[in-house]
Amino acid sequence: MSMLSQQIETHKTAIQSYTANDVAAVEQFRIAYLGTKGIVKQLLASLKDIPAEQKKEMGQLLNAFKQFVEEKYEALQSATIKTTTSKIKNESIDWTLPGDSMYVGSSHPLSIIRNQIISIFNKLGFAVAEGPEIEDDWHNFTALNLPENHPARDMQDTFYISQNPDWLLRTHTSSVQARVMEQQQPPIRIICPGRVYRNETISARAHCFFHQVEGLYIDENVSFADLKQTLYFFVQEMFGDLSPALSKGEGEVKVRFRPSYFPFTEPSAEMDISCTVCSGKGCSLCKHTGWVEILGCGMVHPNMLSNFNIDPEKYTGFAFGMGVERICQLKYQINDLRLYAQNDVRFLKQFTSAI
Ligand code: PHE
Repeated sequence: MSMLSQQIETHKTAIQSYTANDVAAVEQFRIAYLGTKGIVKQLLASLKDIPAEQKKEMGQLLNAFKQFVEEKYEALQSATIKTTTSKIKNESIDWTLPGDSMYVGSSHPLSIIRNQIISIFNKLGFAVAEGPEIEDDWHNFTALNLPENHPARDMQDTFYISQNPDWLLRTHTSSVQARVMEQQQPPIRIICPGRVYRNETISARAHCFFHQVEGLYIDENVSFADLKQTLYFFVQEMFGDLSPALSKGEGEVKVRFRPSYFPFTEPSAEMDISCTVCSGKGCSLCKHTGWVEILGCGMVHPNMLSNFNIDPEKYTGFAFGMGVERICQLKYQINDLRLYAQNDVRFLKQFTSAI
């Protein structure tokens, strides 16, 4: 008997007695015999060293061996499938039952809306600026043209910090605008998202903290027309497609400006949009007026520019500030401010967003 046929015989005896208890052992067998570096491949490769007159016979022998190995492999496979299924049956688990669905977390509605506001203003080149929630009197009031004893300070009931009368919880994110102007000369084009605090009794309509996005744009030749165009763009992007009234085909979201007063802007205005819920017909959200106020705005007061050594003869600017809760209310018709801070999962899980 030749060397090769002897080798084949030895392998055959080993293979005949090979048993596999699990899928891993079957795979081991496949790799050892049928894998790219397996025995069948090795034996076939050795065929090239066989003398020519024996080649045909040895070739046939090897082919028969290969078939033998493949049949054994199939037999091992079906044997393990049988044992696995009988194991499953014994455990009496119904593997065909559907799995329990898992709740995938969602973003807080205020985060969803804040991110949308940021991405709209990003398109216009506004960068995000952030600052501390514990502020000093200068950045929150005095620098913004509200000197001590100015009556406008009463407009915002403030939480002062008892250890230091100069410290307070910021009442608006205009304080961040002050910090940016302190460090940077125009052009300035920023939005300031963040949490603000006011000393209000908590109810459905008021809370001791809420969220704002304020904006500031200072450069040469910035005009009220720029302010209006920027805010029109914002409303179009935010409410243009998605307002419930629009989806009923009830016309466009309308915008109006009303004259107003803020110490840090002159002239000042408040902007209303037609109610997105009733399309201006009148409902409880718009208190039957058809209009909802969404932000305060105006041209930056020259005194404020001077406070930061920005030349009011050379530069002009506009500023605006909006409440994220209000925008959220218009988008989702949430009518109780307390819901935002209660962390009730039944409320939170209703909001899904890719953002
Ligand atoms: N800071 C104002 C507020 O908190 C909003 C505002 C910002 C108004 C900028 C005008 C300009 O109510």
